[in-house]
This record gives sequence, C-alpha cells and structure tokens, in this order.
Amino acid sequence: MAPGDGVRRRDFIEIAAVSAAGIGGLATLVPLISQMAPSRDVLAGSTTEIDVSAIEPGMAIKAVFRKQPLFVRNLTPQEVAAADAVAVSSLRDPQTLEERTKEGKTNWLVTMGVCTHLGCVPLGAAEGENKGEFGGYFCPCHGSHYDTAGRIRKGPAPTNLLVPEYTFTTDTQIVVG
Ligand code: FES
Repeated sequence: MAPGDGVRRRDFIEIAAVSAAGIGGLATLVPLISQMAPSRDVLAGSTTEIDVSAIEPGMAIKAVFRKQPLFVRNLTPQEVAAADAVAVSSLRDPQTLEERTKEGKTNWLVTMGVCTHLGCVPLGAAEGENKGEFGGYFCPCHGSHYDTAGRIRKGPAPTNLLVPEYTFTTDTQIVVG
C-alpha cells in the first residue's frame, strides 16, 4: 500500500459521513416546511361558512372563498321577478334563476365575484356601487353587465358568474365548498 492511500481513504470516509448527515438533515427539514403551508389538496377542499342573517333584501356582501371573492346577495322580490321575466333562450349562457339558486331560496344568489372575461372583480355587491344596465353586477375592466341572477347580458364576458357548490345548513347559514 502506498503511504498516502490510508489518508485518502480516511478523507473519503469523513466526506461520505458529512454528506450523509447533510442529506439526513435535509430530509427532516422538508417535512417540517411542507407541514407549515396548506397543501393544494387542503386548499382545494376548504369550505367557507357564511352567516347571511344580516343581509337585508337588496343587499349583498363580499366574502372570500378559496382566496377568491365571493358575492352573497339577498334579492328583492322585484329583482327575482326581473330575473324570471327574461326569456332564457335569449341569453348567451342560458340558465334560469332557479337553476342558479337553491329550491325555495331563489332570493339568495351566491356567486364568485370574478368576472368570467378576464377575472376582474365586478362592482355591485357593495352599497352605492354601479350594478350595470341589468341591475346585477358591472365589471368596469371591459364593460360586462350581469343581471340580477348574475347572468352575462352585455359585454365581453362569455359566461355567467360562477355559482360555487354550497348548501344551507340552517336558514341563515351557508357552507360554500
Ligand atoms: S374582466 Fe370583466 S369585462 Fe373584462
């Protein structure tokens, strides 16, 4: 054996030991970091509970569902009637108000607050905001008008405001998601 071989072999063993410790350290760090942030699956499956008891007829609130704006609106009888008076076949995205709400609760319009054109947040949920030509929501980015059922009536948006999955758990409580 040459005199330097033993030294080189020891160096190698030390380097290998350090590397193994480094990898071990990383392996324990990664699970810790991934536990700190919610995974995509958790986010996608998350629900939002909303108490609607304070929303008077004619009023709406803006909430947040899976990090996106959500509108919950209590339609007046006149707004329900206006939505029902529209010939569905004339609509770009034909849907009745009944199809977009829960049975016996057609006054509760729950939609994402995200314009289906390019994703701006339409106006009309907060008091005094422009509700557009059809009394629902108005997207100021490129001029999309939604009616009192959140259906696209004018402007570039291709489809109605999205209605997310939700259920009434009581008369005044909804769970979205
Ligand atoms: S993003 Fe709403 S009209 Fe373009």
